[in-house]
Amino acid sequence: MNKSECDIGMIGLGVMGRNLVLNFADHGFSVAGFDKDKSKVNELNKEAENRKAFGEESLEEFIKSLRKPKAIMMLVPAGAPVDSVIEDVLPYLEPGDLIIDGGNSHFTDTNKRFKELSGEGIHFLGVGISGGESGARFGPSMMPGGPKDAYERIKPILEAASAKYNNENCVTYLGPGSAGHYVKMVHNGIEYGLMQIISESYDLMKRSLGLNNKQIHEVYKRWNNGKLQSYLIEITADIFTQKDEDSDSQLIDKILDEAKQKGTGKWTSEDAMEMQVPLPTIDAAVSMRDMSTYKSEREQAAKLLYGPDSHIEVDFLPFIKQLEDAVYFAMITTYAQGMAMLGTASKEYNYNLDFKDVAKIWRGGCIIRATLLEEIRKAYENVPDLPNLLVDPILSKEILNSQDEVRAIIKTAVECGIPVPGFMASLAYFDSYRSEWLPANLVQAQRDYFGSHTYERVDEKGFFHTQWNHV
Ligand code: 6PG
Repeated sequence: MNKSECDIGMIGLGVMGRNLVLNFADHGFSVAGFDKDKSKVNELNKEAENRKAFGEESLEEFIKSLRKPKAIMMLVPAGAPVDSVIEDVLPYLEPGDLIIDGGNSHFTDTNKRFKELSGEGIHFLGVGISGGESGARFGPSMMPGGPKDAYERIKPILEAASAKYNNENCVTYLGPGSAGHYVKMVHNGIEYGLMQIISESYDLMKRSLGLNNKQIHEVYKRWNNGKLQSYLIEITADIFTQKDEDSDSQLIDKILDEAKQKGTGKWTSEDAMEMQVPLPTIDAAVSMRDMSTYKSEREQAAKLLYGPDSHIEVDFLPFIKQLEDAVYFAMITTYAQGMAMLGTASKEYNYNLDFKDVAKIWRGGCIIRATLLEEIRKAYENVPDLPNLLVDPILSKEILNSQDEVRAIIKTAVECGIPVPGFMASLAYFDSYRSEWLPANLVQAQRDYFGSHTYERVDEKGFFHTQWNHV
């Protein structure tokens, strides 16, 4: 192909970058790729075949092949690698050129880069991209943020390459500055919450019911045909059929129970705390990933600390039905927490998010895609400034109809000594959100007692301090 006038360039030809290049090219766009690792450039050149895509080993040649004003997307690990790519390309760029960061960058870094680059006349977009390898190749969900006119320039490419849901693109402009990366961060927080809840349901099926992997696979497969239909339930069903190549076991039983994390879930919890937004299910998910890494300590503790017998004798089908409802309850409350966080962030950071659009572009392509998201989209279509999904007329019914089940599942888990912090946090979120009164009056009294921090009264405005009776 003619190696000039390319529509877009991609820096970072790892799994995500290379597959996105092929995806863009499949939709008729000409794409140049660059990576410092020559083997990745070769890999792209092999895979590109007769598409309008190619890899370049020289950054200079790569830049020369781009049509002006240039549009360069980068898909490199978050943090220092993003700054180093910007530093490398900057000398070759002219005012009006566009850099798109498609990685999982922290939103504060995106704000900083946006400011620095606009000083140089360079446009900058932060685009959250979800869907893993196959999403990148065949249609991810994309969450763009930054200057609207800069987005308009690459809109045709992103729209063509995005996942489709009912023929609608799973990409839309979300808002200024770091809006896109922020929404992607919260997407990942929700992802953490959902994964934790699903893993708790697995634990109950495995240790309490004593189901084998084949039976567990059947349960998730059945769930995926019902109200829990979602990408994460679908892949979970698949996971339980995977054989280990090196033994007679199932692969799941050979995988170490220590979960890794790149940090986006933690960032979600951190910023939620910063803004004082309650996010208990996501916080619990982050904590449980941390707890999982204390493997050797847990092994030692297990010799000393005992609990009840984890096995119970119950009727299989009613229990599985109860568990399905409990997962549904926790799933709704997890989305509710994430969306409520976006509500606060939208005001705090002036993103001016349209929440129905967020739900809309999450319906396909991304890791948290689920049938439920269509209901969530409708909730915000009906009431754009809905304070919480739990008070949507339809979703509130769903949640009310499954509360008995989540309570029953938690009781069983407590009796069996199975940790279910995701379910517990979800129920506590619901129980506290629906509580007209919370015992925070006592917290206020205590603060005033020991630190003269004052308190407010129910019957009079103002701040009060009392000389408490020290008995
Ligand atoms: C996605 C994923 C993706 C990645 C996570 C994994 O939306 O495609 O969220 O971004 O797989 O970064 O995150 P952890 O390593 O933190 O689990």
